Amino acid sequence: MNISVIGSGHVGLVTGACFADLGHQVLMVDHDRKKIAALKASKMPFYEPGLEELVHRGVEEDRLRFTTSTAEGVRHGTIIFLCVGTPARPNGEADLTAVEEVVRDVAQAVREYRLIVEKSTVPVQTGEWIARICRGSVRRGVACDVASNPEFLREGQGLQDFLHPDRIVLGVESKRAKELLLALYKPLNAPAVVTDVKSAELIKHASNSFLAMKISFINSVAQICERVGADVMQVAEGMGLDRRIGRAFLDAGVGYGGYWFSKDRGAVLRIAEKLGIDFQLLKATARVNAEQRQRLVKRVEEALWNLNRKTIAVLGISFKPDTDDLRDAPSIDIIRSLRQEGAVIRAFDPQAMAQAKALLPGVTFCKSAYEAVRGADCLILMTEWNEFKELEFARIKKLMRQPLVVDGRNLYQPKTLQQLGFRYIGVGRGEPWDQR
Ligand code: UGA
Repeated sequence: MNISVIGSGHVGLVTGACFADLGHQVLMVDHDRKKIAALKASKMPFYEPGLEELVHRGVEEDRLRFTTSTAEGVRHGTIIFLCVGTPARPNGEADLTAVEEVVRDVAQAVREYRLIVEKSTVPVQTGEWIARICRGSVRRGVACDVASNPEFLREGQGLQDFLHPDRIVLGVESKRAKELLLALYKPLNAPAVVTDVKSAELIKHASNSFLAMKISFINSVAQICERVGADVMQVAEGMGLDRRIGRAFLDAGVGYGGYWFSKDRGAVLRIAEKLGIDFQLLKATARVNAEQRQRLVKRVEEALWNLNRKTIAVLGISFKPDTDDLRDAPSIDIIRSLRQEGAVIRAFDPQAMAQAKALLPGVTFCKSAYEAVRGADCLILMTEWNEFKELEFARIKKLMRQPLVVDGRNLYQPKTLQQLGFRYIGVGRGEPWDQR
């Protein structure tokens, strides 16, 4: 099938490359000439495991092409995916300027039937606006459908999530749109939930908000665990085996980060406000998340007595592993707070150092985890990159000034580190009686 994808950010590029890999003819459209030139040379604008190979294969096998022309995209694709940015305004509302501009360009270029599909996360009722523009701008007598097909791609696991989804959500208003989208996704053999457009739009926003709420819930439980000496990991396991709850997204830690959870939670809150609904759960979700970051700072301070002039090694800066994305990363808030208290920070991240340098002046960026811990009074494990799972702690102990590990992701076995002579502080893992 011929499809066009407008916008080559994380969602657009992963979507386009994966559809090409499934055998479709994909044309990627982006008005950023530099980006398109780089993509033509197989240079990725961001780090996503496996993406470069997939793009390269699509280009080599002539199923994936790039252009800066929206009109060319409209000529090529029977289905046109909108994957342009929908950044948050200061009041939390999504800024849909880019969506509107692209839809106007698309509508004016349509000469025969086209299905326009929202894939970027947009507020409920955006589809109605798109349909209205199409009715006003598409030539008379030419049919056009609008659909919503939200994405559920996690950064760092985008390819896996696209190719093996839990479900595909198709919000459609016509039989033709439904059949086209079902045919497009047929190779994935995944369960499809077919709804109206508004419900599909809401499924995406509600899913992200719910996941954020689940994380804030377990982080609140973690606080209780810390006070009473219980273990949040055991609590999560016991809760998660209940199929009504599920184990996923019950990992306590330094709080959720990334662009999407904060943005989508804020957008849902704003939609609710405009409708006169007080969505209190989502307000509390954000409050708990902000506190969770500061609680880690507090725990380091409690363990070190004074932070002033203490050296702290931070392992991992990206908001999660396998990405170089630093948007709303807990590390940024935490490092800034530690520095405000006078701490000296030595940091290492496998992918995000270049971006981090601009955001965190005054931090010493190191070439490895071992270099970062040299002379440190405390090691904070901030992001659970694979390479931090098997660190040689005996060597680390010799390099550090004080053997203190603050494990922001509950990655390590407390006993193993304690046997090596470390003081171990996790999240929601009360210290054993004899160490309190
Ligand atoms: C999220 C959603 O998971 C995707 O389904 C969605 O498509 C995407 O947003 C989007 O809207 O585009 P993403 O932000 O890439 O994906 O990352 P997640 O894996 O969801 O993690 C978000 C944050 O929550 C990370 O900081 C992670 O460390 C944290 N987290 C996650 C926890 O603290 N505990 C958990 O149990 C799980």
